[in-house]
Order: sequence, then C-alpha cells, then structure tokens
Amino acid sequence: MGNKIILVTGASDGIGKETAKALAKQGHTIIMHGRSLQKTKSAYEEIKAESGNDKITYLTADFLSLAEVRQFADKIKQKYDRLDVLVNNAGAQFTGKRETTLERHEKTMTINLFAPHLLTMLLLPLLKKSSSARVVTVASTAHKMAGKPDLNDIELNNNYSMGKAYGLSKLYVIWIMRHFVSEMKRAGVNNITFNTVHPASATSSLGRESTKSLSTKIIYFLWKPLMKTAAQGAASSIYAAISSELEGVTGKYYGLKGEEKPSEKYYSPENEQIVWNYSINIIKPYL
Ligand SMILES: NC(=O)c1ccc[n+]([C@@H]2O[C@H](COP(=O)([O-])OP(=O)(O)OC[C@H]3O[C@@H](n4cnc5c(N)ncnc54)[C@H](OP(=O)(O)O)[C@@H]3O)[C@@H](O)[C@H]2O)c1
Repeated sequence: MGNKIILVTGASDGIGKETAKALAKQGHTIIMHGRSLQKTKSAYEEIKAESGNDKITYLTADFLSLAEVRQFADKIKQKYDRLDVLVNNAGAQFTGKRETTLERHEKTMTINLFAPHLLTMLLLPLLKKSSSARVVTVASTAHKMAGKPDLNDIELNNNYSMGKAYGLSKLYVIWIMRHFVSEMKRAGVNNITFNTVHPASATSSLGRESTKSLSTKIIYFLWKPLMKTAAQGAASSIYAAISSELEGVTGKYYGLKGEEKPSEKYYSPENEQIVWNYSINIIKPYL
C-alpha cells in the first residue's frame, strides 16, 4: 500500500483525474484539487468507488485568482503536516483574444505559470517535511512551437495569440521549475526534486475554450483519432510522481517514453532568471 501524501491539481477532469485515479489505486493519500465543487466532488466519488481507497479528499479553488491559490495553500497547510508529492497539473488554454484576470494578469500565464509557481512556493514548508518530496509540473510539447519569447512582454500585451500564450507559458514554467533546483540548492534544501512532464497529445477538456471556432473544431475533429486517451497521457505524470527510478533525480523533463530534452533554443540562465524574477514579482503579494 502506498504511503505518500499526494496533491494533484486539476484532478476534476482529463489527465489530472486519471493521475489521481492511478495513484489512488496504489493506496496513497490523495488530495484532489478542482475548480468546480460539483465536478470535483463527482470525480472524487468516482475515484473513491473505483479505487476502494478511503484516503482521498478534495478541495476547490479557482487558480485564475492568485488570492485563491494562497487560501487553498493555507487550507492544505492547516490540514496536513507534510506533503510528499505535488503534481502541478491544472492548466488551460483560452481564446484568440487576450483576456486578463480580476487581478489584471493575462489568463494563460496566470493558470499555467504564476499559479504553479505560487503554489509550489507556498507548499515548500510542507514539502521540506517529507523524507523525499517531488514536485511534478505538467508542461507541453507546445513549448517548442511558440516562437521567440519577448522577455520584455511576458504577459503578451503585444502580439498575443492563443498558441503563443499557451506555448510560452509552458516554456516559462519549465524554466521556473528548473530554477527551483538551483534555488533549493542555494538554500541547502536537498529533499525535494523538481521535474516537468508532458502527456503528448491526449483527449481531454483542454480545448473547451480554444476550439470554439469552426476552423479549430475541424482541426480537432481530424486530429482526435491520433490522440492518446487521458489515461495514457497521465503516464508521464504518474512516472515522475512515484517511480523509484527517479528517486533523487531533479531538473529533468519526461514524456510518455521517458526522459526527453526540452527546447534549449531560447534558453539561457539569464533568461531563466528574468522569468523567475518577473513571476516572483507577480506572486509576491500572495507569499
Ligand atoms: N490534453 C493534452 O493533449 C495536453 C497536452 C499537453 C499538455 N497538457 C497539460 O495537461 C494538463 C491537464 O490538462 P488536460 O488536458 O487534462 O485538460 P482538462 O481536461 O481541461 O483538465 C484541466 C484541469 O485543470 C482544471 N482547471 C482549469 N482551469 C482552472 C482554474 N482556473 N482553476 C483551477 N483549476 C482549473 C480543470 O478544472 P475544470 O474541470 O473545472 O475545468 C481540470 O481539472 C494541463 O496543464 C495542460 O496544459 C495537456
């Protein structure tokens, strides 16, 4: 029986739900995060019945609000005295029109970059209490297709497109998670690993907003038969979360068949630092 305490964000649907289900079947304590109470409760009931595991709980928060991410982390800290695995899976794509949150940040960067950065920072005290903790963050191969990042315009006030915002948010989150490795080293913390994964292309609800137009609907329809199931796509998250092969392994990127290399085209330690500093500045009021 598994004995890890595992938080999976975005566990109400798609890849996160399948990740939570597989880990629940191994007997671990699972905290399922979702946005909608009704949807998260229903996913929780399904997983509880299917796994026979009664060490599952659920908690909701809208990660388009950094204030809610903070409240969510506070609740986790009140309830648990350690965390062994954090799976930063919640993510989204939006429409072709740039939109901002109530806190005035571009939506894609908020959910895919600032929220996982903030949540990871806030949960570090719990992760430090684990004998061996892992942070697994779901990125995407789309990080290779976003074109040249403009580090003076991370939230895409100019030249916004859905694909650029999504791809760059995933490129930046890979850099942020790598940066955690050096930050933790500097702080003398050596019990937490930080890896990123991608699920290939898997059927899920991810395109609910980005495939509203007729042309994107047609592309999705043609592409769908080539896609993996959400359960297949969850394999990289599950592997990075729990595999004994990855004990102590940090700063890597995994796909469905094992380790891969993320794009280094626009990478430099300076660029990584710029993105880290920018994101820290955004999340600072909530730390
Ligand atoms: N599917 C793919 O082919 C693919 C490829 C590469 C990367 N990914 C990544 O895989 C991860 C999971 O995506 P998926 O494909 O499984 O999509 P999905 O079916 O849409 O699931 C996304 C999960 O994130 C939650 N979420 C979305 N917006 C949120 C918000 N504002 N606050 C809190 N939670 C929110 C969703 O909650 P609701 O149920 O309420 O919507 C859901 O639980 C994402 O990070 C995505 O970028 C997916």
